[in-house]
Amino acid sequence: MNMGTQSRTERADFQATADPALNEAADRTADVKLLSYEELYALWERQQWQTQELDFSRDREDWAGFPEEERFQRMYGLSAFFIGEQKVAEELGPIMRAAPSEDQRIFLCTQIADEARHVRFFERFYGEVGVLEADGLSQMLEQTSEHLNPEFGRLFDEMLGRRTERLSAEPGDSEALVEAVTLYHMVIEGMLALTGQHFIMDFNEREGTLPGFVEGFGNVARDEHRHVAFGSVFLREKAREDERYKRAIERTLEEAVPVAEGVLSPPWAPEDEDYELFGFSISETRAFAAKCLMRRLKVIGLG
Ligand SMILES: [Fe+2]
Ligand SMILES: [Fe+2]
Repeated sequence: MNMGTQSRTERADFQATADPALNEAADRTADVKLLSYEELYALWERQQWQTQELDFSRDREDWAGFPEEERFQRMYGLSAFFIGEQKVAEELGPIMRAAPSEDQRIFLCTQIADEARHVRFFERFYGEVGVLEADGLSQMLEQTSEHLNPEFGRLFDEMLGRRTERLSAEPGDSEALVEAVTLYHMVIEGMLALTGQHFIMDFNEREGTLPGFVEGFGNVARDEHRHVAFGSVFLREKAREDERYKRAIERTLEEAVPVAEGVLSPPWAPEDEDYELFGFSISETRAFAAKCLMRRLKVIGLG
């Protein structure tokens, strides 16, 4: 792990989220303090940022200077995030409505606003840097989706989509809510988004490339830690409340983790476990994702 990355997650604003993955103590004990829903809301008010303030002029020069092959390889990560943000922004409504308490719903409303900002962040980056020519956001999303793999569709459209559809029809189905939060906050945000962000920012910092992107993506990562912190406190409460919720978390992870590991690997990557991309191997990425998940599960009461 490089020093630049270490110092980011050790920064006071990242530590303020109390995401268990950022706390070494979570390797040893489940008794780690998490923020309440009200505290998470207050933190959201303090951690605002603007996509329109980011300066992408250096990024534009960098992008134009990358070899064709490297631009193509970078498209998998960018597309997975861009489409992922758009999908989670739209899937969160039914989850928010199904959350049983007012404090939970208010926090989830702030998260919907964050996910919308993350979509605009990618839209601005694509547009200003010239990643692709498109006529509006929908066309941009459609064009970039060509870079994704089938596991991505399975996880977002089939697995998460099935739960949010259920919650739209039956907001009182608390087991479906626990399953949806496990998929959304633990697997998609906790395992996938934060792992991808860690390695993408690490690589760009090492290479000294895309400074505007790295700055904005750092803000996105801080938001994601706050979102995962919500998932952790929610699932801890549920796991303590009833054994059947614990089982719901476990069976959702069993179903989703292998698919999520497939999402971490680009469609054009060789099957070989030690395949290297941007200076790290696929197995290294998976190990990082697994370690973060283990810390969170321990704190939830499942590790
Ligand atoms: Fe996001
Ligand atoms: Fe998020």
